[in-house]
Amino acid sequence: MQIVILENAEAVATHGANVIIQKIKQKPDAVLGLATGSTPLALYRKLIEAKRSGDVSFLRSRSFNLDEYLGLPGDHPQSYRYFMQENLFNHIDIEPGNTHVPPGNAANPLKACEEYDELIETTGGIDLQLLGIGRNGHIGFNEPSSGLTSRTRVKTLTPATIEDNARFFGADEFQPHLSITMGIGTIMDSRKIILLATGDSKADAIRATVEGPLSASCPASALQMHKKAVLIIDEAAAAHLEHKEFYKHIERENQKLLQSLKQ
Ligand code: PGA
Repeated sequence: MQIVILENAEAVATHGANVIIQKIKQKPDAVLGLATGSTPLALYRKLIEAKRSGDVSFLRSRSFNLDEYLGLPGDHPQSYRYFMQENLFNHIDIEPGNTHVPPGNAANPLKACEEYDELIETTGGIDLQLLGIGRNGHIGFNEPSSGLTSRTRVKTLTPATIEDNARFFGADEFQPHLSITMGIGTIMDSRKIILLATGDSKADAIRATVEGPLSASCPASALQMHKKAVLIIDEAAAAHLEHKEFYKHIERENQKLLQSLKQ
C-alpha cells in the first residue's frame, strides 16, 4: 500500500484528481470506479475544471459507481445516481450511457447485483477505482463483517452509517437501511485503487486500514492485499498512524527516485 500524506483536504483533492486525469490521458476509454460522499466532492470539482479548461475529455471513458440505496429511484434527490449527475456527470462530456450506478429500484435486486458484476467484467474491468472510507472502515457499503472476497450484493447499513448519512435526509423522509454495493472482491479486482480520506474523524479508520490486521472488522484493510492501492490522506486523517513519519520518508524517497529516472 502506498501512503501519500498531504497538508490538507484541498491538496488531497488535487492529487486524487491528477491521478484520474493522468489515467484518462493515458487511456481515454478507461473504466473508472466512482464514489459518492463528501470526500470526493472537491475532486469532482477539479475534474469539471479540467474538462472546462480543455485539459481532459471524458468522452470515451466509462464509469461504475460503488453503491446505491435500495429503494430509491435514480431521480430521487438522495439517490447516488442523482448525486453523480449533479456533482459530476452533468458537467463533463461523459456519454450518459457509459455511466453505471447500481439500480436502487431494480425489480429483482439480487439479479441486478449479479448483472452489475457481469457488466463490469464485460466492459473490461475497472482500471482505476476511487474510494472514500467510513468512520468504521467501510468501503462502498461494505460494513464491518463484510466478506473480504464478496461480490456486488444487497447489504444492510450499520446504525453508525445510517446516522452519518441522516444529515442528507429530511426529518420525515424515508431513509433506506439497505443498499446495493460492489463487494470487497469486486473492488479488489480493480487494477488500481485510490482511497481518499480527510479530517480527524477518519484517523482511527485509517490507522486500522494501514496498521491493523487484515480483517473483516475493517473492510478497508483488504487493501493491504492489493498490488496497487494508494491512500491519499491529509494530516488530520493520518494523525493516528504510528509510523506516519516513515510513510512520509518513503514517499520522499519515491519522488527522488522518479525525478532521477526522468533526468
Ligand atoms: P464521506 O463518506 O466521504 O461522506 O465521509 C465516506 C464513506 O462513507 O465511504
